[in-house]
Amino acid sequence: MYVKVRVPATSANLGPGFDVAGLAVTLYNTFTFELIDEGLEILGCPEQFANRDNMTFQAFDEAAKKIGLDYKGVRIVTSGDVPYTRGLGSSSTCIVAGIVGAYAFKDRYEERREILNLATKIEGHPDNVAPAIFGGMTVSVMEDDYQVTTLSLPVKHDYRFVALIPPFTLSTKKARAVLPDTLDRKDAIANVSHLALMVASIINGYDHGLKLGFKDRFHQPYRGKLIKNFFPIMETLEKDERVLGAYLSGAGPTIMALIRADDTKGVVRIKEELGDLIEGW
Ligand code: HSE
Repeated sequence: MYVKVRVPATSANLGPGFDVAGLAVTLYNTFTFELIDEGLEILGCPEQFANRDNMTFQAFDEAAKKIGLDYKGVRIVTSGDVPYTRGLGSSSTCIVAGIVGAYAFKDRYEERREILNLATKIEGHPDNVAPAIFGGMTVSVMEDDYQVTTLSLPVKHDYRFVALIPPFTLSTKKARAVLPDTLDRKDAIANVSHLALMVASIINGYDHGLKLGFKDRFHQPYRGKLIKNFFPIMETLEKDERVLGAYLSGAGPTIMALIRADDTKGVVRIKEELGDLIEGW
């Protein structure tokens, strides 16, 4: 018997919602788990990740211990389209898959709240794992003991998120290291108000609230310096009246631009507007 788990990529932060807001994206990684007589076999990923430090295995093993899944060995086969270290939640796909895989062997894969709490504990924050588990757009509150309350937001309009994925990577660890330990009160107020505006606009389909609502002062001003052309790209997207909002996806370097589904030329137009800024990125 084997278990197959498909997990979506995710885009975290959504501008002002640092470590809080997230969105499931239609790119997927697939993992199969098979209990074997002994040892660990990991197939389908680069050799340097095929060992006991593998994130999927670590999550599987931790979940197995938690729920009393007694196993001698496991074979994990991974495949998929989620780019690695680009701010699209590839590590969350591994963590969520590992936990769901273990829970499935005990027929407990529908225990999403418990799975979310464990995934958050492993990841450290809930904004990628929550939409990976629940789908759609989510807002999550993590308490000190990694207990998470998550709401899935009803999204009124038919929006499209355009992902500008650079060829270079940026590790979350490096991107978190550049953030300041304390925040200016004005910046904190700005982000709280922007997040409220963004969420209300998404739920109610108020396109005009989104451009301001997606603005962030917590992390993008610092992380933007690590990403080639980040600030001119954001300025260019700001000037496009049909771009409803733009933000750094997760820890970056991917940048997301929100357009309406009926803006059928949006992707081509954005590419042309950005031109040299993303050419040979
Ligand atoms: N909220 C996280 C961050 C997402 O921005 O660091 C990436 O793991």
